[in-house]
Amino acid sequence: MNNHEKVEKNVGLMMVLVTIAISLGGLSQIVPLMFQAEAVEPLPGVKPYPALELAGRDVFIREGCYGCHSQMVRTLRFDSERYGHYSLAGESVYDRPFQWGSKRTGPDLARVGGRYSDEWHRVHLINPRDVVPESNMPRYPWLADSTISGSDVARRMRTLRFMGHPYSDEEIAAAPDAVAGKTELDALIAYLQGLGRNAPRTR
Ligand code: HEC
Repeated sequence: MNNHEKVEKNVGLMMVLVTIAISLGGLSQIVPLMFQAEAVEPLPGVKPYPALELAGRDVFIREGCYGCHSQMVRTLRFDSERYGHYSLAGESVYDRPFQWGSKRTGPDLARVGGRYSDEWHRVHLINPRDVVPESNMPRYPWLADSTISGSDVARRMRTLRFMGHPYSDEEIAAAPDAVAGKTELDALIAYLQGLGRNAPRTR
């Protein structure tokens, strides 16, 4: 019996060898990335989300917007022609978890900040058909009725600081005031308007 046959006929040995092969392959791809400044350091201007945007990001995740919207412009000509500069890793170092994705029932949102007015977003999120008649995006009217809890946001910022996001004591202390009286809809719009803020400019 040659070596190849021995491995093929011994499930235990095969499992061990497959595990070693996959681990080595995975490690050789992943570990170098962890040390590449380009992948782990923020681009110039990229900062942890301000309190209101952070709260809005949590609403985005809770509502499952990522189920239809990616936040990653690919390095393909038709993607960057449509949305703007392709996404860079350094833009999302403060995104935990990141929202890249590949599912696009709706358009990519990585560069949507500033494309529409706050009022457009307000109308669109409450009932998309009011501004885009052919839209099949769901309505999110309840976001206008629930307010953001300041102490909650401060706690989340402290947790993120523990994870390495450089929030200052002042920023955390100011968080409850920054979100006071704001609804989840306000927070989500603030978040959307900030998307792509630090992207390299192409036009
Ligand atoms: C079932 C799929 C679906 C879900 C879930 C969804 N959307 Fe959409 N979204 C769409 C579609 C389709 C469009 C394009 C038509 C339109 O503008 O309404 C769109 C458009 C948008 C646009 C305009 C983008 C542009 O460049 O014109 C924004 C902003 C947006 N959605 C935000 C959100 C947010 C925030 C959520 C979560 C609260 C969400 N969407 C959830 C399908 C979805």
